[in-house]
Amino acid sequence: MDHFNYSGGVLHAEDVALPEIARAVGTPVYVYSSATLTRHFNLFRQALAWTDHLVCFAVKANSNLAVLKLLGSLGAGMDVVSGGEYARALAAGVPGERIVFSGVGKTRDEMARAISGGIRQFNVESEPELLALSSLAQEMGAEVPIAVRVNPDVDARTHAKIATGKSENKFGIPISRAREVYRLAASLPGLRVVGIDMHIGSQLTDLDPYRQAYRKMAELCRVLRADGHAITRLDLGGGLGIPYRRDNAAPPLPLEYGEVVRETVGDLGCEIEIEPGRNIAGNAGILLASVIFLKQGEGRDFLIVDAAMNDLIRPAMYDAHHDIVPVVEPAPGTDPHPVDVVGPVCETGDTFARAVPLPLVGAGDLVAFRSAGAYGAVMASEYNSRPLVPEVLVSGDRFAVIRPRPSIDEMLSRDRIPDWL
Ligand code: LLP
Repeated sequence: MDHFNYSGGVLHAEDVALPEIARAVGTPVYVYSSATLTRHFNLFRQALAWTDHLVCFAVKANSNLAVLKLLGSLGAGMDVVSGGEYARALAAGVPGERIVFSGVGKTRDEMARAISGGIRQFNVESEPELLALSSLAQEMGAEVPIAVRVNPDVDARTHAKIATGKSENKFGIPISRAREVYRLAASLPGLRVVGIDMHIGSQLTDLDPYRQAYRKMAELCRVLRADGHAITRLDLGGGLGIPYRRDNAAPPLPLEYGEVVRETVGDLGCEIEIEPGRNIAGNAGILLASVIFLKQGEGRDFLIVDAAMNDLIRPAMYDAHHDIVPVVEPAPGTDPHPVDVVGPVCETGDTFARAVPLPLVGAGDLVAFRSAGAYGAVMASEYNSRPLVPEVLVSGDRFAVIRPRPSIDEMLSRDRIPDWL
């Protein structure tokens, strides 16, 4: 459930009519709903209410400071994968004790920043990383809590580009080598082994891969404890999918996911950490765009909108589907017209959808791309020298620009021409 609904024939974000935002900020623009973010975060908390837990929002899904601040004030921890994300979490007021640091390629600078700023745990993904972190921690006179990310070799049954838990993926250490890697970790100065970490993929629509992976984790936890490691935390990663199509069977709910967690690892007495990103932010955002032209092609019509692949890359990158809806509901009896919805960027890949029935007349009409709150603005670029897409946060009948649209001059001012040119 989200808070983007029609009222009086006009699509609203909570109590704000989207045309009002388009008028004030222009298009394209991302619009997020505070109530939806809050609701989705609380669903995970309820799903794990039976145990000690921390819901760490995956910052990569939506890293706007206002979004992080909202979630942080509800008690969220953060899962970060770069020095930049770590800095964002701190800047949003989330204390280091609630930040976990994941990622296969943390640099020395990134690790140092997190050690000095405070960190709940590093999720370490390789032996070289263990060695690097140990020597840095020693130099800094610190003892850093770590979990090792274990690759359980489970098929997450999701898009190949976002599956992470198979042995051929670059992530984590193979579960078959976990014991020796934990032995190494325990022997290294400056590190304190506290847990086990896993993340098997994103947009999972089936709970079975979780069940398989978490069973393996429970078994590993018992083995590692028998080896003498004090495992007190399990980081179960993120990945629970969202409905991208209104007319489809919805993926499992956080509550059902929580039951799988209880069933598989619930009896170990560990504190549970999870790292959902998409499930919290995905359906809490839309991308609002205007129609530039309706163009007749050979046997098909093109609706050319002012949002493009640089603003929302998921369709071009993963063939992802986003429902596209008119902001003003058509009058009853208006026939929908099948159109290809495309952006202005000079690539055929800049196509959002083919032959979607849209009851639009043309220039100036507003459309909304649903389910765009996660991996939308964060993956945007300035390709074709299109200024970075702005973001707006709605709460009830208020809205605020939480990232303004840069002017073209601002965009150009970042470049430097050397004096020898
Ligand atoms: N934890 C780790 C270690 C991750 O790598 C990820 C996502 C998450 C948590 C959060 O997963 P979520 O709950 O959001 O599924 N750009 C792609 C998604 C890439 C996900 C990468 N890792 C997309 O647009 O679908």
